[in-house]
Amino acid sequence: AQKVTFVNAPDTDYSREVLRERAQKALAKVKDSLGKTYLPLINGEYVQTDVIIDSVNPCNPSEIVGHIGLMSIEQAEQALNAAKAAFPAWKKTPATERAKILRKAADLMEERRHELSAWVCLEVGKILQQADAEVSEAIDFCRYYAAEMERLDAGYSYDIAGETNRYQYQPRGIALVISPWNFPMAIATGMTVAALVAGNCTLLKPAETSSVIAAKMVEILVEAGIPKGVIQYVPGKGSQVGAYMVNHPDVHLIAFTGSREVGCRIYADAAILQPGQKHLKRVIAEMGGKNAIIVDESCDLDQAVAGAVFSAFGYSGQKCSAASRIIVLDPVYEAFLERFVEATRSLNIGPTDHPSTQVGPVIDATAQKRIQEYIEIGKQQSTLALQMESPENGYFVGPTIFSNVSPSDTIAQEEIFGPVVAVIRVKNFDEALAVANGTDYALTGGLYSRSPEHIERAQNEFEVGNLYINRTITGAIVARQPFGGFKLSGVGSKAGGPDYLLQFLEPRHITENI
Ligand code: NAD
Ligand code: ALA
Repeated sequence: AQKVTFVNAPDTDYSREVLRERAQKALAKVKDSLGKTYLPLINGEYVQTDVIIDSVNPCNPSEIVGHIGLMSIEQAEQALNAAKAAFPAWKKTPATERAKILRKAADLMEERRHELSAWVCLEVGKILQQADAEVSEAIDFCRYYAAEMERLDAGYSYDIAGETNRYQYQPRGIALVISPWNFPMAIATGMTVAALVAGNCTLLKPAETSSVIAAKMVEILVEAGIPKGVIQYVPGKGSQVGAYMVNHPDVHLIAFTGSREVGCRIYADAAILQPGQKHLKRVIAEMGGKNAIIVDESCDLDQAVAGAVFSAFGYSGQKCSAASRIIVLDPVYEAFLERFVEATRSLNIGPTDHPSTQVGPVIDATAQKRIQEYIEIGKQQSTLALQMESPENGYFVGPTIFSNVSPSDTIAQEEIFGPVVAVIRVKNFDEALAVANGTDYALTGGLYSRSPEHIERAQNEFEVGNLYINRTITGAIVARQPFGGFKLSGVGSKAGGPDYLLQFLEPRHITENI
């Protein structure tokens, strides 16, 4: 295997008092600047909109983080025209220049790390430590894709005597990035800077609930030097303005991360050739998961319990990578379940700006209601092992564990995207693998085991995009764990990996007889 070396941005070491103070200061500063209005950025100008919505703090919905101007269809059309006009110059801009802008953006993010983490913490209810890791990931995406573009820009030579043969890459054109709210900084940045560094003019449509963070990220890209028309911030309602842009004949590429329902819809819509369209659209769709951890009889149970708790309840189970099924072999089932329940019971649930909080709220009232409905279904189909209390104000759902879950139960098959876990008992490792693979998804998976045979079988037979052995199954790091799934988890693309940028480029080959 080829060894890849990339230096990742380090996360903040909150054990250092000076850094804790800096983080608290940034949090206070951000709290003082809540409630501003963020407007679409079209062709370098912030434009007024008829519709304004509020983005609120899920810990305290009466706290307005920002007012968001939602674009109209006419404004989407203007943004697409501006992107078209800006494309020829951006395409000609040398890849090294484009990469330089990304590196500058990374430096700006690093300078403003605490402030950015505070925005993530307040807008989407993520604890500071995990918000900070997201900022590191965003910085890494900028630096890694900058280096990747320079590598690819060198192209390939297949020269022979009397004939040059050059293989090179060009941008695709107009890229539409549609991002989710759950990694509002890292995922929005990753998809956007990949599209930009590859030479595409890029429109970023963030999820409605995380539009302030996206606006901050775009401000940084503009400050770093991305020209007008090349990056545009196009907040809007997904099903209206998002769908309009997906269907637009001038869009060449759609980079989407979000739910299976929307991803499949976009994939289908983008396949339809629109009047005047002279190309096929490339769709990158990263979608949901129903991720499992297998715990076998040979494992270190301390490690398995701690890993399962973190993987399941970190960010209230709202990571696409989160564990929502724990498959336990019969000999250790009772011992694991008891310890898993007790370890979960010890978690602190509360507002995410509080240093002792481990589990915060879910994103909004709709999510809260949906998760509560799944909990009711779980109560009818299996045994409730734990349902924790949670604060009344805010969109909280207490961590919930079900035991004796059958692999075909609703809560063992559908993505709940909340702090709800199904514990499933199996007789042996064959059954464990069959249950683990028995959903529509293939995103992340984990195994806690000290059996070389089980580890080898999991490597070969556990069908997931990212398999983690004897560690937590969330928190992939750029250029260390390239991330993404297959089956109905996505198209098999790997963010932060060596193939990622290829999706944003068109290869060309030129032969010259000399
Ligand atoms: P979502 O699908 O509801 O929304 C994602 C984006 O799509 C938003 O910007 C939304 O406005 C937009 N959108 C909605 N309808 C649209 C339409 N008809 N046309 C165009 N755009 C439209 O997802 P979400 O709730 O923001 O995110 C959570 C989901 O994302 C979960 O399923 C999670 O597993 C998944 N996710 C996957 C990954 C991964 O890498 N595989 C990473 C993070 C999140
Ligand atoms: N990349 C994110 C993780 O690994 C989704 O948790």
